[in-house]
Amino acid sequence: MRTVRWDPDGPAVLMIDQRLLPADFQILTLTTAAEVAQAIQDMAVRGAPAIGVSAAFGLALAAVNSRTREVESLWQELETASSILRAARPTAVNLSWALDRLLQAAFELKGKGTEAIRECLVVEAQRMADEDVRINRRMAEHGAALIQDGATLIHHCNTGALATVDHGTALGVIRTAHEQGKRIHVLVDETRPRLQGARLTAWELAQYGIPHEVICDNAAGHFLSRGVVDAVLVGADRVAANGDVANKIGTYMLALAASDNQVPLYCVLPTSTIDLTLPSGEEIPIEFREAAEVLELQRDGKPIAPAGCQARNPAFDITPHRLVTAFVTEVGVLHPPYDVHLQRAVQEAQPK
Ligand code: MRU
Repeated sequence: MRTVRWDPDGPAVLMIDQRLLPADFQILTLTTAAEVAQAIQDMAVRGAPAIGVSAAFGLALAAVNSRTREVESLWQELETASSILRAARPTAVNLSWALDRLLQAAFELKGKGTEAIRECLVVEAQRMADEDVRINRRMAEHGAALIQDGATLIHHCNTGALATVDHGTALGVIRTAHEQGKRIHVLVDETRPRLQGARLTAWELAQYGIPHEVICDNAAGHFLSRGVVDAVLVGADRVAANGDVANKIGTYMLALAASDNQVPLYCVLPTSTIDLTLPSGEEIPIEFREAAEVLELQRDGKPIAPAGCQARNPAFDITPHRLVTAFVTEVGVLHPPYDVHLQRAVQEAQPK
């Protein structure tokens, strides 16, 4: 299963519509960069690596849809499309990372004409998608070595195939441990308000045949304090140079409860999620989403909150690096001091 892919016959970007899961499985066909930006904003596609690759395909669409034969006007169209895509969601750095990589590739071909640029953007976006799957499998191998046979794990949000192109980050580690024959049990945080855990992670785990139970987010502390959890696994949307982690809202509370009970918390991420330009988590932009996401949940067909009620809805929080036991990346497992080891990992991951 690929969450997002390029359809050369369109040309179009095909993606699983994650808003409809688990009730319906539908593929969206998007034919413009603006449609891709809207799909990212509406969370038809979500998860840091998946939105990065989707944005890359969006930029490739802008290039192939353009009729111009002038390099400068194609360049302007690409800059406009990339600002629309970049603005779709602010926290995951993979979005700008992917766009910058494609723009750089296009820039280097400015002397070769518009056709060369169009072709290069499609090839580069597809390469990025393939790389994502390879990187996830490498991370999963490194991470699975940390998971014991018989382990019970808490997992937050959705970090699986749906959050990437395929396989996943934190959930990829769980998948690989399971494929290695380890008996794993997953306590799936439901992940309010959009319920990525209950809707998407539980759906994926059922397909892989991995035993699991959904828990309310606020039950995690209870299970951690009772000694029934061996490790907590989370992904990341952006990691600052000092190791502070921006991830799905609730990660910070989970990390505090894990630390208080001496349960390791592993953060699994590709090096493209590391932002060395930001010294700490304080500088990471946090997306706030509409109040309706919090208030529109229904019970017995009725909204859970009184009419007119206000809500505040940060989509991410910052977990200080002191609460992270280790980072799992495609170049290996990183331990403190994170400022040194994250920088080294980014260098090591550069194409030679
Ligand atoms: O708002 P979302 O669903 O895009 O948030 C996703 C997360 O927070 C994930 O943990 C993160 O992107 C890593 S996914 C491999």
